[in-house]
Amino acid sequence: MALKNRETFGSRMGMLLAMAGSAIGLGNIWRFPYMMGKNGGAAFILIYVIMLVFLCLPVMVSEYLIGRRGGSNPFSSFDRLAPGSKWRWIGFLAVLASACILSFYCVVGGWSVKYLADSCILAFSDAQGDYALSFGSFISNPWKPLLYTLIFLGLTGAIIVFGVRKGIERMSKVMITMLFIIIVMVVIRSLTLPGAMEGVKYMFVPDFSKVTADTCIAAMGQAFFSLSIGCGTILTYASYVKKEENILASSAWISFFDTTFAIIAGLAIIPAVYAIAYMNGVEPDVSAGPGLVFITLPGVFSQMPLGNVAAILFFLALLLAAVTSAISLMEVVVAFIIEEMHRSRKKAVLMCFAVCGVVGAFCSLSFGPLAGFKLFGLSVFDFFDYITSNIMLPIGGMLLAVFAGWRLRRANFLDELTNSGKLRIPRWISLTLYYLVKLVAPIGILLIFLNTFFS
Ligand code: TRP
Repeated sequence: MALKNRETFGSRMGMLLAMAGSAIGLGNIWRFPYMMGKNGGAAFILIYVIMLVFLCLPVMVSEYLIGRRGGSNPFSSFDRLAPGSKWRWIGFLAVLASACILSFYCVVGGWSVKYLADSCILAFSDAQGDYALSFGSFISNPWKPLLYTLIFLGLTGAIIVFGVRKGIERMSKVMITMLFIIIVMVVIRSLTLPGAMEGVKYMFVPDFSKVTADTCIAAMGQAFFSLSIGCGTILTYASYVKKEENILASSAWISFFDTTFAIIAGLAIIPAVYAIAYMNGVEPDVSAGPGLVFITLPGVFSQMPLGNVAAILFFLALLLAAVTSAISLMEVVVAFIIEEMHRSRKKAVLMCFAVCGVVGAFCSLSFGPLAGFKLFGLSVFDFFDYITSNIMLPIGGMLLAVFAGWRLRRANFLDELTNSGKLRIPRWISLTLYYLVKLVAPIGILLIFLNTFFS
C-alpha cells in the first residue's frame, strides 16, 4: 500500500465544494421535491430536519472521522483503525453499495443528458413539440436511454481520470458555482409566475394529516441519500482531507448547504407546477413521483413565458448536480481498485465503467425490454434504488456510527474531532456529539428500520 504519494484536496473551499457537490445531486432536485410532494410538504421538511440533526449529522461526522484518520479507501481505512478485524469487510460492502448506487444513478443521469439535449433542440428549432409526452416511450426504448446512460458514465469517468485535485476538486468548484447561479435564475422565473405563491404556501405550511410511519423512513432514507452518507463516499473524500480541517464544522456546513439547496430546488419546481396548473384550471399535482421532473416539469416549461430558456437552464443544472455526485460515487470504487488491486487510475476507471455500465444497462432496460424481469417483485432499477437507499445506507450508517462510537476509543474520537486539542470546541459540544454518535444515531436508525420491516 504505497500511500506516501496519496493526493489531498488543494484548499478548504475546494474540499467543501467537492463534498457539497457529492451531496447535492439528483437527490435534491429530482427526489426531494417529489418526496415532499407525496409526504405533506412542510411536514416532511420538518421531519427531515430532525432526522438530519439527530441521525445524519452524527453519521456524517463518524464517516468523516474514520476516513481522515484511516487515510485510505473504506476497506483499508477500517483495516488500519481496527487491524485484522472483520470491520474491513464492512468497508468492502460500502464499496459495493457505491457501485450499486452508481449503476442506477447513471440511468437518471442519462435522462438528464437527453432532456438537456432536447430542450436545446426545442429552443432553437421553435418546434412546439411536447417532449413531456414522450418520456414513457423514451425510457422504454431498447437502446436510446442506454446510450445516454453510457454517455453520462463516460463523462463521470473522464473527470475522475484526472485525479483528486485536477479532476474532482477543480470540476466540483466550477460546476457547483454554475449550479447555484443557474438554479437561482430558475427560482426567480418560477416565483414570478402568477399563482406561484400557492406553491410556496404548500412548501412552508405543514400538513400533518399526510404524515405516517412511512414518512419517517422515507425522510430518513432521503436524508441518507441526499447527504451521501452510509456507503463510504464521505469517508473516501475525507481520506484526501488535511489534518487541519475542522470535522464538525465541515460536516455541519455540508449538511446545511445540501438542505438549503434541496429547498431551493423545491422552490424552482413546486411553485411553477402550481402556477401552470391554476392557469389551466386543474388541481396541481406535485405528488407525481419520479416523473415530476421529467414529465410534469417539461409541460410546465412549455407553457410559460421564457420557458425555453428556463428548460435549458434547469436541465443543465440537473446534469451538473448529477455529475458532481456521480464522481464521488465512482471515486469510492476507483480508490479501492487503485489501492487494493494495484491498478493505475486509468485502468481503475475503465474497470468501474465496465462493471457499472453493464449493471446500469440492466437498470436502464428494466424500463423497456426487461420490464417483465423482477427481483423480489421489483424491477431491476427499483430493486437497486430500494435496497441501497432503504437498507444498505441506513445499515451502513449505523455501523459507521457504531464503529466510531464503540470501536475507536473515546479519547481517539475526541482527539480526531479536536485535531489533537488544537481546535477549541467546547467540551459539552464534543461530548454531546460523542453520545449522539455512540447511542442516539445507532438506536434511532435501528428503531426506524425495524419499524418499517415489521409494519
Ligand atoms: N447525494 C447524492 C444526491 O443527492 C447522491 C450520492 C452521491 C449518494 N454519493 C452518494 C447517495 C453516496 C448515497 C450515498 O443525489
